[in-house]
Amino acid sequence: MSTDPARRVAALVEQLNEHNYRYYVLAQPSISDQQYDALLAELAQLEDAHPELRRPDSPTQRVGGKATGDFATVRHATPMLSLENSYSQDAIQAFDARVRRALPGEEVRYVAELKLDGVALSLLYQDSHLMRAVTRGDGIQGDDITANARAIGAIPLRLRQPSIDCEVRGEVYLLRQDFAALNRQRESDGESLFANPRNATAGSLKLQDPRLVAARRLRLAAYWLRTDRVRATRHWDHLRILRDWGLPTNPEARCCPDLEAVWAYFREFGQRRDELPYEIDGVVIKVDDLDQQRRLGFTAKSPRFAMAYKFQARQANTRLLDIQVQVGRTGAVTPVAVLEPVPLGGSTISRATLHNEDEIRRKDIRIGDTVVLEKGGDVIPKIVAFVPAARPADARPFAFPEDCPACAAPLVRDPDEAVERCENPACPAQLKRRLEHYASRQAMNIEGLGPAVAEQLVHHALVRDVGDLYSLSPDELRGLERLAEKSADKLIKAIGSSTARSFDRVLFALGIRHVGTTVARTLAAKMGSMERLRQATPEELAALPDIGPKIAGAIQDFLAAPDTSNLLEKLAAAGVQLRSGVGDDAMDSARDGDTSPRPQAEASYFAGKTVVLTGTLAGITRDEAAARIRALGGTVTGSVSARTDVVVAGDKAGSKLDRARELDVEVIGTEQFRAHLQAAGMDPETG
Ligand code: IVH
Repeated sequence: MSTDPARRVAALVEQLNEHNYRYYVLAQPSISDQQYDALLAELAQLEDAHPELRRPDSPTQRVGGKATGDFATVRHATPMLSLENSYSQDAIQAFDARVRRALPGEEVRYVAELKLDGVALSLLYQDSHLMRAVTRGDGIQGDDITANARAIGAIPLRLRQPSIDCEVRGEVYLLRQDFAALNRQRESDGESLFANPRNATAGSLKLQDPRLVAARRLRLAAYWLRTDRVRATRHWDHLRILRDWGLPTNPEARCCPDLEAVWAYFREFGQRRDELPYEIDGVVIKVDDLDQQRRLGFTAKSPRFAMAYKFQARQANTRLLDIQVQVGRTGAVTPVAVLEPVPLGGSTISRATLHNEDEIRRKDIRIGDTVVLEKGGDVIPKIVAFVPAARPADARPFAFPEDCPACAAPLVRDPDEAVERCENPACPAQLKRRLEHYASRQAMNIEGLGPAVAEQLVHHALVRDVGDLYSLSPDELRGLERLAEKSADKLIKAIGSSTARSFDRVLFALGIRHVGTTVARTLAAKMGSMERLRQATPEELAALPDIGPKIAGAIQDFLAAPDTSNLLEKLAAAGVQLRSGVGDDAMDSARDGDTSPRPQAEASYFAGKTVVLTGTLAGITRDEAAARIRALGGTVTGSVSARTDVVVAGDKAGSKLDRARELDVEVIGTEQFRAHLQAAGMDPETG
């Protein structure tokens, strides 16, 4: 290993880029994610210690950390057209005939590709560096989302071939598994779910914070190249060149000598569609020869040399047995279709959401109808229509209840959304959902308190709010169905140990509307305590990162609700953490699957280490920094020796830094220092 930092930095950048290429382009990673992260951390550390070695295309520079703000509008060099769609073999035959008529006597070959169901993106590279990324927009001009594109690991910041100027277009998309994980996360955060991977992708590209984009694990499949740098004659060559330059392409593209081969491709992927790790909605057929493409040209809307051949939507008919209404944690009441189970697109469907009353009325769907179910990339299949010929005489229109089905309180229509809401805070259905949420893994993580137990606690009126959990007696629990003595004791213990959860988790667990894990963390960090939070003005809250007037309003509503004081008193009396800096595990560790309680002193990077501070640390005084390190279990000393574990080097660090290098002591910069504090819940900005 080179000890010259400049060489080591260069070697690390090269290695990391190579691993990225193997992962995204070749789909043959040769190291684990963990090993990759370790190399990245080493690079970050070196760059921190030698800022002059940090280059804009370093893999550490994918997220600038700054919010993006509004996106600038940029004109495309050549319009980003869409493809003409077809749904029948006839239409493709007609397309082929048109092509051949325009190219009399010439041989025509096609390239067939999968039509990925994502979002088109244009990437501009100059001197092999990513300069700009623009969405399709209206085809003429789109949004400049360069900062977000840089955060996407699949998009190379620098091409593998030097001195290239080019424009690349491709589809940004999400793997099904990453989409599912994203929605799971959103569900437990109390955020609305994305209907399908395409919506999730589009939403992700428009996020205001590149760090959030990075976490979404977006993919790229490049399918178009414009450059003067190579003289290719075939689209097929372009796909290979894109790969060679480090841009991922979809591996299923196929060269088709004739229409027969195109049909075979279409049939094959029609069948394999559900097995693919991503959503496709058809195939794309392109004339392979680039000169032929040029001569065929464009209509006003689309190229004449390419055509999309779309799959029929997957549909099934089944009977609508009933429409039930569900009451959510925040009181939203939604209608759900109960269906005769029917297989569709790889799973058996027995329920489908009907969204709201308006939708049922608009589609005139009645109980007893035979309905048409359709599954796009959507998680939950849609009911598109009913079959008029199959409507039985006794089909019954659905009457949306005027009162809550669980507590009979009158429902109130939410003016912002087309949603009916039960506003009774004591509604048993809501209470049950609130208990489930409070006990969930990312919240208070109370093992043994699932839907069945929550239901019973509410049914037997043992709790009126989550605060009552802490005064449950073993005797009361033992009386519950299906709760043996042993598990009753266990549950009491689990409830008791939840008082050690950190304040951010408590805030999340309370189930305040729009307060997911991120907002909860911000509130805990910036406010520091429930007491302080209750004094905050709406303006003060709305000025915090991630929090706008809507969330601020929801927080104030919660705090002002008549029962909140009582609830908070119960929690305080039980010893639940209502201030920051105490409590055992922050939410991140639970997210990684580690739910064991960890005392903070053990968890922190500084625990047990001897630390020396040198230079000016941005945003924090030396004394404050030392106090925080001590609070996290570290020892701070004044001079560097062989016993020093870490030197924190700020600006204008002098001889101590030199001495650390001599003794090969670990050196971290201000950014890393702050990251370690932040990880331990002690960010200097907020502490
Ligand atoms: S070629 C001029 N190839 O489908 C060529 N498009 O309506 C234009 N798409 O907006 C596109 N997979 O986002 C092409 N293999 C593929 C594609 C693909 C998905 C999308 C693309 C475009 C839309 C066409």
